[in-house]
Amino acid sequence: MSATVVVGAQWGDEGKGKVVDLYAPYADLVVRFAGGANAGHTLVVRGEKVVLHLIPSGILHPESVCVIAQGTVLDPVVLLHEIDALEQRGVSVRGRLFISDRAHVVLPQHRLLDELNEAKTGGAIGTTKRGIGPTYQDKAARRGIRMGDLLRKDVLAEKVRANLDGWAPVIAHLGGTQPDALAIAETYAGHGDRLRDFVRDTGRMVGDAVKAGKKLLMEGAQGSMLDLDHGTYPYVTSSSAVAGGACTGAGIGPTAVKKVIGISKAYATRVGGGPFPTELHGEEGESLRKAGGEYGATTGRPRRCGWLDAPALRMAARVNGMTEIALTKLDVLAGRGELKICVAYSIDGVEHDEPPYDGWDRIVPVYETLPGFDGPISHCTSRDELPAAARSYVERIEALVGCPIGVVSVGPDRAQTAGLRDPFDA
Ligand code: GDP
Ligand code: IMO
Ligand code: MG
Repeated sequence: MSATVVVGAQWGDEGKGKVVDLYAPYADLVVRFAGGANAGHTLVVRGEKVVLHLIPSGILHPESVCVIAQGTVLDPVVLLHEIDALEQRGVSVRGRLFISDRAHVVLPQHRLLDELNEAKTGGAIGTTKRGIGPTYQDKAARRGIRMGDLLRKDVLAEKVRANLDGWAPVIAHLGGTQPDALAIAETYAGHGDRLRDFVRDTGRMVGDAVKAGKKLLMEGAQGSMLDLDHGTYPYVTSSSAVAGGACTGAGIGPTAVKKVIGISKAYATRVGGGPFPTELHGEEGESLRKAGGEYGATTGRPRRCGWLDAPALRMAARVNGMTEIALTKLDVLAGRGELKICVAYSIDGVEHDEPPYDGWDRIVPVYETLPGFDGPISHCTSRDELPAAARSYVERIEALVGCPIGVVSVGPDRAQTAGLRDPFDA
């Protein structure tokens, strides 16, 4: 019948995993469409925490059918580890997890190159070192290795050798040791064997589901401000993290998309380098980091923390065509006293209502101050139950961004959610 797309509306880690887990029971298919093991999506069910990097966040529901589509970059080592870990928990994935034969594979040289690049630039971008950039580079250079290639021992060794030939001068220039093509081909053919039963033409699968009138929940990774085209370039990831990426990344037409839900925290965080106009430094930032448990789900790095950034959210609402915001971590703001929202950026005395092309280092955030509220609020299951000041804060965000807020998440657990509705309802 339709696709509902879930994307990050900020710099990633907005709580996409939690929201997709909430919505998955309403969907026929849950499809992860972009990024790779740079993502860390956290689900908490009855106090038990699971972090997923590649497998769609619907997997904890035994009926959910999950697809990792061709827009992603797949690290088989991480994927196999994730499958094993789920099976050890008693979550069966066989027969309901499918991975695209066209998804590009992250190989040891990609991780190596990512690390060498970071070392050379002093970690300017602060990537997750998961090999994401180099793998997407290979895809664009038309010399990548795809999942389907891992299933074909006859061609794999030659493809890996050609790929490494291409990178050899770069690896040498960066002072790295050349990886051994044959050893990689053998190891990864082994991974291919273990993953063989999961591999499908998922583009066809997803397309047929659309035709059959099924409900598709499309799970994004990263966030709009990290998007390759729309984010704070070059401090971005290497894929399309916005809603349009669901179409190219999974193989559905834009006409199939009926709703786009942008996830935003009630404040802002960023991990890695790059502009972050509302960042709080020193004690203020540290106290928000502590209250929100803001440490990376993939790398464990402390996340930079700051006030909510309405100009960034306006950009996200525009480029994603957001029909709704899901607001997370409102509980973290309880008991913090007065709250601030950045309503515009002032650059050299001129106000901007959306992120600029440059001048990031000269941005002075224009803040509006709102009354704070006290907790606890994690038991609230509807917006009406929230304290009046918390409701006003939520309403002010809606007005400033020009987009309604649906779900309000008031704690990490699946149950700690206010205003849950069927995400496929008109
Ligand atoms: P994702 O990458 O967008 O899926 O987000 P992450 O999982 O990287 O980071 C979100 C973190 O916030 C995780 O630790 C979640 O368990 C947690 N979380 C999600 N929603 C809420 C919420 O409403 N309140 C609190 N306190 N934590 C939340
Ligand atoms: P989820 O899906 C937060 C950031 C990195 C770095 C930049 C580029 O969990 O929200 P990359 O390894 O992609 O080349 O790094 O992007 N980054 C994320 N930040 N959440 C993520 O994913 C991220 N994925 C990448 O920190 O600044
Ligand atoms: Mg994350």
